[in-house]
Amino acid sequence: MAGRMPLLPARLGVSAARSSPRASSSSSSLTAPCALRQQHQHRRPYSSQPSPRNDKVKFWPFIAVIGLGTLGYMGLVNRRKDMPQKLDAPVGELPAPAKSTPTFSPSDVTVVFVLGGPGAGKGTQCSKLVQEHGFTHLSAGDLLRAEQERPGSQFGELIKSYIKDGLIVPMEVTIQLLENAMTETLQKTGSTKGRFLIDGFPRKMDQAVKFEESVCPAKMILFFDCPEEVMESRLLERGKTSGRSDDNAESIRKRFHTFIETSMPVVDYFEKEGKVVKLDATPTPDQVFVKTQQALKDKLGANF
Ligand code: C5P
Ligand code: MG
Repeated sequence: MAGRMPLLPARLGVSAARSSPRASSSSSSLTAPCALRQQHQHRRPYSSQPSPRNDKVKFWPFIAVIGLGTLGYMGLVNRRKDMPQKLDAPVGELPAPAKSTPTFSPSDVTVVFVLGGPGAGKGTQCSKLVQEHGFTHLSAGDLLRAEQERPGSQFGELIKSYIKDGLIVPMEVTIQLLENAMTETLQKTGSTKGRFLIDGFPRKMDQAVKFEESVCPAKMILFFDCPEEVMESRLLERGKTSGRSDDNAESIRKRFHTFIETSMPVVDYFEKEGKVVKLDATPTPDQVFVKTQQALKDKLGANF
């Protein structure tokens, strides 16, 4: 998409250039033969000075076309500014155009962001909440891995390299996957109402802002706090059987770095909005679950 953009001013330039001979030939045919005589009177073959009145008239169309073209191009650039870099997806695939009103109303749809470092136990707590309280669990990492494996996905290679290096995949891809999954869930249930645990998202400020702006604002954030040593040993243990390309010592180190540098500012941001509940994620899953349920009750009400 970015590669196509420069064509626009070039096209405008071509049409402006094309319009000039037409404009001048039509104006000359309209003025003949009387005006031709006048031109001959004003422009003598030996004179180096053009007629100032005629030149002014001929330049106006150029100025108007260039001015309008520039304004149009600037408008287009502004509209496309925050669209994804890799936007050659077929229609209906990833990603959707930027929009400023959320797809889902928070009065219909409850969104709980579930955050914490890699290996903090986000997925484990989400599974329990699904079992006991009927939430829909959407893990951003799982959706990205599924998209990576989907035959024909144009984002497969990109996702693979980001995940291996513990980096955050460009937000447009992840947000579109989440929105698609939410839409699919609601379509299946035939209802406009839904309760979603969005696990491992947002991991970067741009994801947080864009998701709340274009998909749905979150009601609260569950943050599972866990020391790195504990998370590291859990991930290495999981790596024995998970088959994940990032459950190894080198990728884990990179993921911790991304978590501190890129993801913690998101938690700080939501904390200032009073939406975060921090929970100690070092005890056993069942012990953490007791606290998790209490946190949801406190923030969303007894019938969360
Ligand atoms: O949450 P999980 O550990 O499954 O995420 C695995 C990887 O997926 C992350 O390290 C990151 O590369 C990618 N990811 C992402 N953006 C998210 C969630 C996950 O880029 N919001
Ligand atoms: Mg997970």
